[in-house]
Amino acid sequence: MAKSIDITDLDIYYGDFKAVEGVNMTIKAKAVTAFIGPSGCGKSTFLRSLNRMHEVIPGARVEGKVTVDGQSLYDSAIDPVEVRRRIGMVFQRPNPFPTMSIYENVLAGNRLNAKRMPKATADTIVEKSLRGANLWNEVKDRLGKPGMGLSGGQQQRLCIARAIAVEPEVLLMDEPCSALDPISTAAIEDLIHELKSDYTIVIVTHNMQQAARVSDDTGFFNLKAAGQPGHLVEFNPTKTMFTTPDNPDTEAYISGRFG
Ligand SMILES: Nc1ncnc2c1ncn2[C@@H]1O[C@H](COP(=O)(O)OP(=O)(O)OP(=O)(O)O)[C@@H](O)[C@H]1O
Ligand SMILES: [Mg+2]
Repeated sequence: MAKSIDITDLDIYYGDFKAVEGVNMTIKAKAVTAFIGPSGCGKSTFLRSLNRMHEVIPGARVEGKVTVDGQSLYDSAIDPVEVRRRIGMVFQRPNPFPTMSIYENVLAGNRLNAKRMPKATADTIVEKSLRGANLWNEVKDRLGKPGMGLSGGQQQRLCIARAIAVEPEVLLMDEPCSALDPISTAAIEDLIHELKSDYTIVIVTHNMQQAARVSDDTGFFNLKAAGQPGHLVEFNPTKTMFTTPDNPDTEAYISGRFG
């Protein structure tokens, strides 16, 4: 079910501003791909272009090609809503729906697709997704309580449960651990490791150790100068990236000699 993604000559715009330029890469199925790079270089922008979330911003558009297992993502026949179901997203700040219980939060995406669902089916999806997100044991006795009542790390795992409940093919994660303590971070990293047997995972992180720990491939994005578009400097297996990178700028960034 997991899919590979091919990106060819992708430029990404906000109105007249070209935020990202000329990206070419292949994101492997059933692997973890990490994006690193300084603030403002376009990591989040690029991530959102992979499930057509970018274009919801007025004036925002892309040029170039993204194909998911050979199918063109930006083809006019493709329904962006369906794309966002198949390619799920977890945001930097956990964003559970504030008025919903833990149970209903997990099902929020499924409810969009099927308003009515037998209780037994719903229960099964909730338990499976919460187990998948490593949260079940902590919440199984309070599923009817508000999702907002959970700790930050639990909320982030709740959002991961919500994302996997619809059984996406790809999971995009934008700095999913940036608001979390080391224990919650370790839980999410374990989870990413488990999820990659079923999903294609793309993660943006500012934490170099995290990229090195969780990912198979890493892309380093950078900016030539403020106001210039971000671009992909290097894309390589993570081991290569962190030991013998091709580009001296990658080396400077990952060793902290940068700026
Ligand atoms: N909604 C928007 N409208 C206009 N410009 C935007 C918008 N969102 C981002 N940008 C611009 O696009 C560029 C890339 O931003 P982006 O958020 O993708 O960077 P990033 O690499 O994710 O940074 P960070 O590490 O701080 O999250 C920046 O110059 C930013 O100001
Ligand atoms: Mg970002």
